[in-house]
Amino acid sequence: MIRYTTSPDGLTDRMLDGFFVGWPDPPSARTHREILHRSAYVVLAVDEQAGRVVGFVTAISDGVLSACIPLLEVLPAYQRQGVGRELTRRMLVLLKDLYMVDLTCDRDVQAFYAQCGMTESTGMMMRNHERQSGRGRQPGSGQVPPEGKL
Ligand SMILES: CC(C)(COP(=O)(O)OP(=O)(O)OC[C@H]1O[C@@H](n2cnc3c(N)ncnc32)[C@H](O)[C@@H]1OP(=O)(O)O)[C@@H](O)C(=O)NCCC(=O)NCCS
Repeated sequence: MIRYTTSPDGLTDRMLDGFFVGWPDPPSARTHREILHRSAYVVLAVDEQAGRVVGFVTAISDGVLSACIPLLEVLPAYQRQGVGRELTRRMLVLLKDLYMVDLTCDRDVQAFYAQCGMTESTGMMMRNHERQSGRGRQPGSGQVPPEGKL
């Protein structure tokens, strides 16, 4: 039985095993928990019997016009069972009052997002590969520095 929740409270590292498949330098479970807590919106799919999270989606947002969905993943053993579609559906409900909802993805996942009601687009991106794990951030990084310090 899969339960869906918007609360990342009470998660243990063990409940988050197995995500970031194929990432050369994946975030730790602790960093994963931090990502979930710091995101503006999160939806988790929890396998109650197994006592683990089997899928998650996050969104960051200005809360006024726009949101971006940076992460969506379903554990391989739980894929093709409708979990990804349900996570995305629930996230798009949470974001329904915003004007812009954007994400970047590989071409092979575009059909999935199209089924979820999203439209193909073009985009630009940048990746700092040495920061993939989320380690080594300075305290306060991610916040806008005082004027003149950029
Ligand atoms: C993409 C992903 C989240 C889909 O999750 P899922 O739970 O397997 O998806 P669902 O079972 O809800 O799929 C619904 C439908 O979308 C389509 N679909 C699912 N995964 C797809 C994929 N990788 N490529 C193309 N279509 C896909 C299928 O038509 C599927 O219906 P079907 O089961 O009748 O074939 C999952 O494959 C995943 O975690 N992949 C690795 C991480 C990733 O690529 N995330 C997206 C980053 S932008």
